[in-house]
Amino acid sequence: MTRRYYVTTPIYYVNGAPHIGHAYTSVAADVIARFKRLAGFDVFFLTGTDEHGQKVEQAAQAAGMTPIALADRVAADFRDMYDAMAISYDDFIRTTEPRHAEGASALWKKLEENGHIYLGAYEGWYALRDECFYQEDELITRPDGTRVAPTGAPVEWVKEPSYFFRLSDFADRLLELYEKHPGFVEPSSRRNEVISFVRGGLRDLSISRTSFNWGIPVPGDPKHVMYVWVDALANYLSAVGYPDESAPRWDFWPANLHLVGKDILRFHAIYWPALLMGAGLALPERVFSHGWWTIEGQKMSKSLGNVVDPRDLVKEFGLDPIRFFLMREMPFGGDSDLSRKAIITRMNVELANDLGNLAQRTLSQIARNCGGVLPERGVHTAEDTALLAQASLLPEIMEGQIDRQALTDALEEVWKVIRASNAYIDHQAPWALKKTDPQRMADVLRVLVDGLRVIATVLQPYMPRSMDAMLTQLGVEAGERSFAALDVPLPAGRTLPAPKGIFPRFVEADATP
Ligand code: MSP
Repeated sequence: MTRRYYVTTPIYYVNGAPHIGHAYTSVAADVIARFKRLAGFDVFFLTGTDEHGQKVEQAAQAAGMTPIALADRVAADFRDMYDAMAISYDDFIRTTEPRHAEGASALWKKLEENGHIYLGAYEGWYALRDECFYQEDELITRPDGTRVAPTGAPVEWVKEPSYFFRLSDFADRLLELYEKHPGFVEPSSRRNEVISFVRGGLRDLSISRTSFNWGIPVPGDPKHVMYVWVDALANYLSAVGYPDESAPRWDFWPANLHLVGKDILRFHAIYWPALLMGAGLALPERVFSHGWWTIEGQKMSKSLGNVVDPRDLVKEFGLDPIRFFLMREMPFGGDSDLSRKAIITRMNVELANDLGNLAQRTLSQIARNCGGVLPERGVHTAEDTALLAQASLLPEIMEGQIDRQALTDALEEVWKVIRASNAYIDHQAPWALKKTDPQRMADVLRVLVDGLRVIATVLQPYMPRSMDAMLTQLGVEAGERSFAALDVPLPAGRTLPAPKGIFPRFVEADATP
């Protein structure tokens, strides 16, 4: 039986252009999806756009467009950013699609049928920027006396008829979920925040609005539109065919992993499982929340004018160096800063020096001293065996890390092997063996190729294009790049293409030599 893996990104609001924060969640999901595919899983990687709600409606008004015209334009821009970042999504769902309206309405009806929805009136605080209701005691008072949401977003007092979801009924079941399945919310520091929020008391959730109409109509009462978060969360179900449980993709439910930023954890770790419990549906296995990027030490914001378009970074530094930087610089789950200096340092030290040089030194010696042909596997010395054993453990060790979203640790694991390979090549000094022991020289170069093959194979999810080039240079054919293929040694005698540097050093244009 094929093993399935269903991973999602949040669906992004279409009120603004894609930026590095969006790219970050999506690259992380892409690394995981690609890794699981190489490990033999049948993967469904879902992403998309969140197109309804008052925030999008207002952005469209400000742009002098209809909401759907704005959504069409921004959704296309997200796809363009995804192409630039090599995001290998399997489906891109838009909440304005009929299949989604059907799924979201079916979820609503199920909740109603199960007695979890009632009509009332909402009176309280709402932050449009977060599309979130806040309780009085969550607000923060600014020095000038104004009150804002804990995220800093402005709040307004809202009073309107509204349908409610009986969220308060689910507190005990949610607490039991976090206790019995601690892996449901990670990292643990975030889980503790979720638990204390639930322990602090849950109020029923207002799940419809009447003051605007850019949304999915409430079944049976079209004066109301669904609260944009109920609409949005339902995307994870509608994309796999809900409510048609015989749909081919329905087998992917429940999702294995929802990747989200820390700002939207409450919706995914509290509201979402409660809605699913209410509808009698299976719960996702895991919600993992990552941290936020600052830009050159500052919060990224439109008003500061420092919003980074990932496509600009790719143009300047190249795709894989940026993907690598994003996954390497920020310990996955923590926060970090994006700066030119940090990007260039990672490129020059880890990519050009550590990995690029290792490949270049190995391959250029094969070109020069072995006629450009892959040598036979020789008799292994203890050092050869130690290096190859360390490399061969990578897929398994990394899979454990990827399953825990320890994406940065997994890279560190690869770099241990890269550093060991560099120490090995320095110590074996194959260039010096050319005259004294050409057989041993060939054996050493072959050990290096075998090690590099594992390194390049496991790094494909992080740096697909450059690892594709590296595997080609190592003589690894297209059908030999999965983890399972590593069990079969490369046949000796293959002619290798002329080696070309894969990670050039980055030199600032105005840098003095
Ligand atoms: N539409 C909702 C999600 C609905 S999911 C059912 C939404 N959209 S969003 O456009 O605001 O994108 C949110 C995602 O971008 C979050 O995962 C958030 O953490 C991420 N980021 C936005 N700015 C970020 C940084 N500066 N750094 C890292 N990620 C950030 O919320």
